[in-house]
Amino acid sequence: MLVILLLFTLLLTFTPHHVSSTNHTLLQPPLTMDPSELQTLYTIMETLSSDQKWRTNYPNPCKPSTSWVGIECKPGVADSHLHVTRLDFGTPPNPNCKITATFPSQIFQLPYLQSAFFFHCFTLTKTAISMPKTVLEPSLFQQLSLRSNPSLVGSIPSQLFTHLSSLQILTLSQSKISGRIPPEISELTSLVHLDLSYNRLTGAIPAGLWKLKNLVGLDLSYNSLTGSVLNTIGQLGMLQKLDLSSNSLTGNLPNGIGKLSSLVFMAVGNNEFRGKLPVELGNLKGLEYLIMENNPMSTELPVEFGWLPKLQELRLANSDYSGEIPASFSNLSNLTTLSLQNNRLTGNIPLGFVNLSHIYHLNLSKNWLSGVVPFDSSFLERLGKNLDLSGNSELCLDPMQAYDCARLGVVACNRSNTRVGSSSSSRVNPLKTSEGRVVGISRTTLFIVFLVLGVLEFKC
Ligand SMILES: *[C@@H]1O[C@H](CO)[C@@H](O)[C@H](O)[C@H]1NC(C)=O
Ligand SMILES: *[C@@H]1O[C@H](CO)[C@@H](O)[C@H](O)[C@H]1NC(C)=O
Ligand SMILES: *[C@@H]1O[C@H](CO)[C@@H](O)[C@H](O)[C@H]1NC(C)=O
Ligand SMILES: *[C@@H]1O[C@H](CO)[C@@H](O)[C@H](O)[C@H]1NC(C)=O
Ligand SMILES: *[C@@H]1O[C@H](CO)[C@@H](O)[C@H](O)[C@H]1NC(C)=O
Ligand SMILES: *[C@@H]1O[C@H](CO)[C@@H](O)[C@H](O)[C@H]1NC(C)=O
Repeated sequence: MLVILLLFTLLLTFTPHHVSSTNHTLLQPPLTMDPSELQTLYTIMETLSSDQKWRTNYPNPCKPSTSWVGIECKPGVADSHLHVTRLDFGTPPNPNCKITATFPSQIFQLPYLQSAFFFHCFTLTKTAISMPKTVLEPSLFQQLSLRSNPSLVGSIPSQLFTHLSSLQILTLSQSKISGRIPPEISELTSLVHLDLSYNRLTGAIPAGLWKLKNLVGLDLSYNSLTGSVLNTIGQLGMLQKLDLSSNSLTGNLPNGIGKLSSLVFMAVGNNEFRGKLPVELGNLKGLEYLIMENNPMSTELPVEFGWLPKLQELRLANSDYSGEIPASFSNLSNLTTLSLQNNRLTGNIPLGFVNLSHIYHLNLSKNWLSGVVPFDSSFLERLGKNLDLSGNSELCLDPMQAYDCARLGVVACNRSNTRVGSSSSSRVNPLKTSEGRVVGISRTTLFIVFLVLGVLEFKC
């Protein structure tokens, strides 16, 4: 067998030089399938789909001119057959899955299969991921994607991880998969994307997962995972997307997160994380989205968040943060969304916030903020109803800038209301009249003027 193979290879290599006149089609493989692989394929098709009478309508399903959509075949390197390399079910125009479709464990017996996709395929008949008793080694599987399969139940068999050692993309999302993530996940050393989101997974995230150094995307969101995140998460230097949100994870966010220098998106909201945040978070210079709301943090807002120059969204609501809003947040020039509502924040709104030129959504409601709102009318108009300052009883709006206090949920400042630390002078800045004259007006006069204007025009 090996000798024939060697001869065949030699022939292929030398043909163009020595026998260039030979008709090359002689050397092309006949377009047939290995009979046992063909039978396995029919079994898979019949398990999943009733779109066709596969055996009679497609006697040679791999043949390029007659192959069905949803299947991809390639000629073998070491033999003269066509082999199934990709199967795709559930998304039109690919074959539909019938209501009695169950998980076809035979896919692991197709020796050349590299990718399989099952989208919205197991919807009514309960079925679990299973492995056949005998599997061929080594598996060439690179991508397995099972998405939106509401009747996919049971746990992830550990053999899935031990067998599919070449896997690069694994998606098992929006299903009802339960149980723990098998620790054998550490064997998937080629894994680049892992998505187990929207399932019913329990237990701790296995320590071995943090060894998968090639991971670029990790999504474990919307499960019931418990335990803490280990410091060894810092080994995932390629990670760009980390989503652990909506689980029951506990403990501190470890310092190791500060080593994830490729991170662009980090979501850890809706968990039980608490305590001081690692200063190393300030190293994540590429971070654009930081979503951490709904955690019982019980700490102060870290100054370091203001050192993330690319940040576009910073969501820290409902997290029991106390202390003042760090002035460093004013440096986040690309910030579009900042949500800090429902914390215990005190002090003034940083003056520099008026310089957040990209801000579009700012929610500071339900805190203990005080003093004068530092926004000018153009800022207030730009944000419109996407600015929420309500529920801060000590906060007030300078009547000069007041154009819709009720909507913002703040009162106009009293005469005596002066910003903490600012001069207690009863005079405000000179105001230009319509004729361009600069006039000085006492705060009392101004207050009365704006009170009247407010009643008439500004509902203040
Ligand atoms: C090779 O054979 C095929 C079909 O047998 C034919 O169509 C083609 O013209 C031949 N080519 C040459 C270069 O002889
Ligand atoms: C802000 O965003 C723009 C466009 O996405 C980008 O070009 C720029 O570098 C960002 N600014 C910073 C400070 O990262
Ligand atoms: C804002 O950024 C500038 C320039 O990087 C820096 O000098 C300044 O200290 C920062 N401000 C705060 C409050 O962190
Ligand atoms: C806003 O930015 C400008 C220009 O960088 C700076 O001069 C000014 O002091 C900033 N305003 C506040 C209130 O920080
Ligand atoms: C701000 O947060 C509060 C409390 O969660 C919410 O009720 C309100 O709708 C939010 N406002 C805006 C403008 O998003
Ligand atoms: C504003 O003035 C009213 C009436 O004088 C007073 O009852 C109220 O306590 C004052 N509010 C503040 C925040 O000073």
